[in-house]
Amino acid sequence: MNIAVTHKLAKRLIESQSQAISGQQLADEFGISRTAIWKHIKELEEKGYTIESIKKKGYRIVAIPDTLEPLGIQTGLTTKRIGQKIEYVESCPSTQIIAHQLAQEGAPDGTVVLTETQTAGRGRLARKWDSAAQKGVWMSIILRPDVVPQKAPQFTLVTAVAVVRAIEEVTRLQPKIKWPNDILLNGKKCTGILTELQSDADGIQALIIGIGLNVNQEKKDFDPEVQEIATSLKLESGETVSRQKLVQSLLYYMEIYTQLYIEEGFGMLKILWESYSTTIGQPVRARMTNQTLEGIAEGITDDGVLQLRTADGKLHGIYSADIEM
Ligand code: BTN
Repeated sequence: MNIAVTHKLAKRLIESQSQAISGQQLADEFGISRTAIWKHIKELEEKGYTIESIKKKGYRIVAIPDTLEPLGIQTGLTTKRIGQKIEYVESCPSTQIIAHQLAQEGAPDGTVVLTETQTAGRGRLARKWDSAAQKGVWMSIILRPDVVPQKAPQFTLVTAVAVVRAIEEVTRLQPKIKWPNDILLNGKKCTGILTELQSDADGIQALIIGIGLNVNQEKKDFDPEVQEIATSLKLESGETVSRQKLVQSLLYYMEIYTQLYIEEGFGMLKILWESYSTTIGQPVRARMTNQTLEGIAEGITDDGVLQLRTADGKLHGIYSADIEM
């Protein structure tokens, strides 16, 4: 079975929406027999597609399964760079590990790794990342920007803006960004971003941007230790959210904003980031490994460093910390 043809057939049926297309017409368009078309239809049904076969009219897609398989994601994907190559596995320890491996083997800019569940998902500061099966988006994106390694943290901020725009587009929720990489809904975390780097003397070889997006979890789906601080789009909106639409939208905004970054620099994106930030202008406590500072978060620098003014009037640059508000 040629999976590329199955893929094209799914795309054709989805694009014709409620209009049925006859087996003969499909056979002519694809240059294969009606029996071959029928076999591809069966293949799609096995993958969870619901396809109606109407006598004398033909085939019509009624429902698409909400998996993260490339077939579903790439049908309807409008990007040119990000997501053209998707590596999908049903389960893995961490998509970051796979993405690092692929990047080392020369995977192109824009390669995406997706999975339904991670057995050893990792978060910032070597923390564990809870990745319930089929309930979230567990994804790593390989980027190969021509920038110096010091600029890598800006990509976390660019990604945060892309995540917020995608959530806004697919749901009616209004997420906020907590510096540096948390996306919050009603003060609880729904998304984390982990940016890792492969670099050498020539600069950045690859950026591996890991995104963990809590989509359809119920409270019980979270580990007890994060149940009070984590949330999902479903918990906040009361509706099941299409993970497929979310990934398509997220890849779209990643492409738009990384392109904007490459062409125009960080300026516009910084303004966008600040408009979504819940940290800027607020009194915060920044816990670092060797000290804790309290003050007002005044802004971020062009390099994504948080500017914290303490009561004695001093301005501190915070590179990495846990922020409490
Ligand atoms: C954080 O907020 O601490 C960052 C969490 C990042 C989680 C994502 S899920 C997909 C990718 N694979 C991982 O193991 N981690 C990132």
